[in-house]
Amino acid sequence: MTEKRHGADNEPIFSLRGVRYVYNRRQVALDGIDLDIFRGEQIALLGANGSGKSTLLKLLDGILAPTEGTMRALGRNIAAVAAGQDAFRFHREVGLVFQDPDVQLFSPTVLDDVAFGPLHLGLPSDEVKARCDEALALMEATHLAPRAPFELSGGEKKRAAIASVLSLRPEVLLLDEPTAALDPRTKWVLVNLIRNLGHAGKTIITATHELDIVPIIADRAIVLGEERCILADGPAEAILADRELLIRANLIHEHLHPHGVCSYSHHAGVP
Ligand SMILES: Nc1ncnc2c1ncn2[C@@H]1O[C@H](COP(=O)(O)OP(=O)(O)O)[C@@H](O)[C@H]1O
Ligand SMILES: [Mg+2]
Repeated sequence: MTEKRHGADNEPIFSLRGVRYVYNRRQVALDGIDLDIFRGEQIALLGANGSGKSTLLKLLDGILAPTEGTMRALGRNIAAVAAGQDAFRFHREVGLVFQDPDVQLFSPTVLDDVAFGPLHLGLPSDEVKARCDEALALMEATHLAPRAPFELSGGEKKRAAIASVLSLRPEVLLLDEPTAALDPRTKWVLVNLIRNLGHAGKTIITATHELDIVPIIADRAIVLGEERCILADGPAEAILADRELLIRANLIHEHLHPHGVCSYSHHAGVP
């Protein structure tokens, strides 16, 4: 990791300095974000509801531009990408999977949704097919190809939505609360699929407040506090072990640990 992050020829793929984002000129969502993200990292973006996780993912995806501060992504100025400049090519390299799969799935069948990006790139049909087969296989969703998105279960929709982004073969995958509202079995199936994508070399940034999935999907964790800035950034293991930090970030509740006798891992279910 140290080597990955500090190698001389290894520029960060995302670099944020003093980034602030304000909605409607008054709702501060992020304030003073300094952050470097390197190729091949697996990062958990942790924070309570409203701490700015989705906003940060939208900035990384070039959907939003910072209100203040500077931000570069894959060698580009993100403000230019957000203004539409080179946005199409940028989104071949960076893909965001929204929290709500219904935002991502809009075609009559799953296959149409997964093929949408590659078709839009104007790729030949055998290449489109190869990419769809690959993306569906990665999400163990091959059997879902002919199904209508609206008739899928929550977990199936999630896998279809991720496949629809993977078919562009992005280098960076941004996942917004991928396990929200899934039952435990479905959740762990998905978590394992995400881990496999990471092992295959993708850069993956997952926003979540579910601490039990963090050791599986991330080696680095970034904690956003309720003050809308970064409270901590470091090895996931160390962050998960820092109870005071997690309480401060509203990721665990103090009243669950009234006597200080139970270890953090016991309560949060971290293996
Ligand atoms: N479209 C919006 N308009 C106004 N305020 C918003 C909008 N989206 C998010 N916010 C505000 O920005 C803050 C951060 O929100 P968000 O990035 O969605 O956090 P998270 O994903 O961690 O729950 C919250 O205070 C939220 O109310
Ligand atoms: Mg969110």
